[in-house]
Amino acid sequence: MKITICVGSTCHLLGSKKVVDRFKELVEEKNLGDQVSLSGKFCMGKCGEGVCVSIDDTTHIIQADQADEFFEKEILAKL
Ligand code: FES
Repeated sequence: MKITICVGSTCHLLGSKKVVDRFKELVEEKNLGDQVSLSGKFCMGKCGEGVCVSIDDTTHIIQADQADEFFEKEILAKL
């Protein structure tokens, strides 16, 4: 599963660094390094409401404080 987190300026202001750090921690904690690849990308063209996170080919917009919930629902549950 390929996860890309936007680190463009708008997403950065909305907390993308927090999301990146939390996803990294969760991947490590749960030992998912060989199943999940995390990367960053500059502006995905959907700035505004939250941090853009794409999983394979689907883009989601999340709030930084929902990183854990999102990880459980959209990443862990789908591995
Ligand atoms: S900065 Fe993230 S979508 Fe534009």
